[in-house]
Amino acid sequence: MGYRVGIAGITGYTGVELVRLAASHPELEVVLGAAGASAGQPLSTSWPGLQGLTELDVESIDPERLAACDVVFLALPHGHAARLAPQLVDAGVLVVDLGADFRLRDPEAYARYYGLTHPCPERLPTAVYGLPELTRGQLAQARLIANPGCYPTAVTLAALPLVEAGLVSTPLVASCVSGVSGAGRSPGPRNIFCETHDSARPYGIAGAHRHTPEIEQNLGCQVVFSPHLVPMNRGMIATVHARLARPIAAAELQELYATRYADEPMVQMRQDAPGTADVRCSNRAHVHVALDAERATVTAVAVIDNLMKGAAGQAVQAMNVALGLPEGLGLPLHPVMI
Ligand SMILES: NC(=O)c1ccc[n+]([C@@H]2O[C@H](COP(=O)([O-])OP(=O)(O)OC[C@H]3O[C@@H](n4cnc5c(N)ncnc54)[C@H](OP(=O)(O)O)[C@@H]3O)[C@@H](O)[C@H]2O)c1
Repeated sequence: MGYRVGIAGITGYTGVELVRLAASHPELEVVLGAAGASAGQPLSTSWPGLQGLTELDVESIDPERLAACDVVFLALPHGHAARLAPQLVDAGVLVVDLGADFRLRDPEAYARYYGLTHPCPERLPTAVYGLPELTRGQLAQARLIANPGCYPTAVTLAALPLVEAGLVSTPLVASCVSGVSGAGRSPGPRNIFCETHDSARPYGIAGAHRHTPEIEQNLGCQVVFSPHLVPMNRGMIATVHARLARPIAAAELQELYATRYADEPMVQMRQDAPGTADVRCSNRAHVHVALDAERATVTAVAVIDNLMKGAAGQAVQAMNVALGLPEGLGLPLHPVMI
């Protein structure tokens, strides 16, 4: 068999999505699943739909047990990975952190946005940001992968060709929506039924959201980021508006995006504006760009499934690159359309 996989946070939304992906990945075998309050129970107690498919019992988090794996996915609230990852990396494990602990290069930005003093800032330069469309070359040598946030993935893929070409003035404006699974499984005002069903609301606006510095780090410019929570389970839209720094023809704009993403297996350019159903349960991002010549602006849209290209799927994609496997191995491209 291929690689022995441990998942810490296996009972959460991204953790159990990793279980689903590993089941159809020919090189992965999940040998260990760990969590917090769910430890001591079969995984199928947390997720009854897995009955008959897995015998895995959920363990409590034990770094020594995790260190016996080849690959460990840390699908935990922020703060945990920074304590676990150094020991695992030093034991020779490939670590993929789905949380935020190793995404920001600046430990002061981490402290400001996440409210924690980073316990191992010396490790930050050793982490590779796991957005293959941006960092593929570095991922091949990675031992510690900082899996991107969901909004940063969508906003970055929407805006990257514009920024790389120096085509737009800043700040960019990114208006985004997310399904409720983006808030995780622990019940709270941002995900319980009565407070999310049949209602949509902005949150974390005016630079307050934790993903703001990560988006700006990726794009190297200021971004006015406005996330909105909408009543759907999964899916995310980033609509980026930017003022042109110089005139461009519509055909040239289309060519810019087509060329940038021509060889990207997980980015599909679209002539029409995509919707979240187009990528549901798929690891692909769909991207659309349009010129408003009258107002000298560009509008670029990216849609992703927040649990796939925005989390677990992207983690497997980056792991594939780091292990020298085909990048799309085990990753669904076709959406669940209905
Ligand atoms: N949801 C998304 O769309 C998304 C997208 C990108 C990144 N992320 C990031 O991925 C990470 C996981 O997110 P999620 O949505 O999967 O979260 P979640 O559904 O809330 O699951 C959290 C997991 O962590 C475990 N856990 C919580 N507190 C713990 C503790 N003190 N000790 C040990 N285990 C603990 C939980 O175990 P119990 O069952 O025992 O409570 C559960 O398995 C977070 O850092 C999140 O920001 C999420």
